Amino acid sequence: MENLVNKKLFSGVYEGKKVFLTGHTGFKGSWMMAWLEAMGAEVCGFSLEAPTTPNHLELLKLKGKSIIGDIRDRELLSKSIAEFKPDIIFHMAAQALVRLSYEEPHETFDTNVLGSLNVYEAARNCDSVRTIITITTDKVYENNEWVWGYRESDRLGGKDPYSASKAAMELMTSSYRNSFFNLEKYGDSHKVLLGVVRAGNVIGGGDWAKDRLIPDIIKASLEGNPVSIRSPKAVRPWQHVLEPLSGYLLLGQKLIEGGVKFAKAYNFGPLVQEEMTVQQVLEELKSHWEAIDYKIEVPKDMLHEAGLLKLDCTMAKVELDWSPVWTTQEGLKKTINWYKDFNNSNSVMTADDLKTYVSDAIERKKSWAE
Ligand SMILES: NC(=O)c1ccc[n+]([C@@H]2O[C@H](COP(=O)([O-])OP(=O)(O)OC[C@H]3O[C@@H](n4cnc5c(N)ncnc54)[C@H](O)[C@@H]3O)[C@@H](O)[C@H]2O)c1
Repeated sequence: MENLVNKKLFSGVYEGKKVFLTGHTGFKGSWMMAWLEAMGAEVCGFSLEAPTTPNHLELLKLKGKSIIGDIRDRELLSKSIAEFKPDIIFHMAAQALVRLSYEEPHETFDTNVLGSLNVYEAARNCDSVRTIITITTDKVYENNEWVWGYRESDRLGGKDPYSASKAAMELMTSSYRNSFFNLEKYGDSHKVLLGVVRAGNVIGGGDWAKDRLIPDIIKASLEGNPVSIRSPKAVRPWQHVLEPLSGYLLLGQKLIEGGVKFAKAYNFGPLVQEEMTVQQVLEELKSHWEAIDYKIEVPKDMLHEAGLLKLDCTMAKVELDWSPVWTTQEGLKKTINWYKDFNNSNSVMTADDLKTYVSDAIERKKSWAE
């Protein structure tokens, strides 16, 4: 992995920091671990076994510590955090799939709500922890099928078990920010700032999860079958995985620096004019890889999934000076090229994508990369 230490990204705050990362064996977590390590952080991951084969984390061969464990296992989680003594926790572990949440509602609520509670309790009992960033989703908003983007102050809800579990977790998180990690008592009765990050559908190489558009397309294309699409008109805030991660890292920097006013929830997503339907995404991917083909099949007994979902990211822009580096088109191109390279020559282009992302951020004058 490219060494980014000398670039002093995010004011160099991650160099030498101890970062506890839940969900490191997953899609976002593996990219996050790679980026943190490249900036000189000492990372300890904590997750269930890699959820897919192949698995991005295994392909990356990172040097950080990896604990295989369940966040519902209070004892193991507390012991792991207490022993590692992190400065910061990025909490990404979750049952993250909407359709699986219909099949496994118990596991979904247990992991997403009580598992997160265990993370907070373990952090509360560990003196070294200064910052927690909890990763939720754009799906926490009560979906009104609005044409506008959801703002951080909009009402939370969730019609499917996944969305509801994440919204419930956010209520629990808010109670921690008002009680144990109360902002007015920061520096007095406690030293923890707790931030929440909500992002939309992420794309990028190294995702093989079930029921996600890009992995489904790649699998079907490689088998020579047109991928079956159930919601061609659904609009989602598609973004390359490095985009929300730069937002999470930037918010982490602000909180590590003691910025009490930043300890709240932020949306991270593409510019509003860039949001695309599923079908537009497919057409764009097809233009980069002729093997891609699709057919539209809407099941009669289709489970509820949001049709129109947009995020308003004005607050991240105004308060954090965060905006995406790549356009959605650029993100889609990087994504499809990652899978093409992996398929053609088994190469893992993650380090190259990270390097290009950082150099584009510098060139495009993003404040975190100055
Ligand atoms: N991928 C997306 O498009 C997307 C969009 C919005 C929000 N998110 C959120 O981002 C986070 C990461 O998602 P992802 O896409 O990497 O998902 P993923 O399914 O690829 O990874 C989930 C990770 O959580 C771990 N995990 C699951 N249950 C666990 C448990 N009980 N104990 C310990 N570890 C457990 C898995 O082992 C894996 O490491 C999640 O919180 C998810 O809700 C993802």
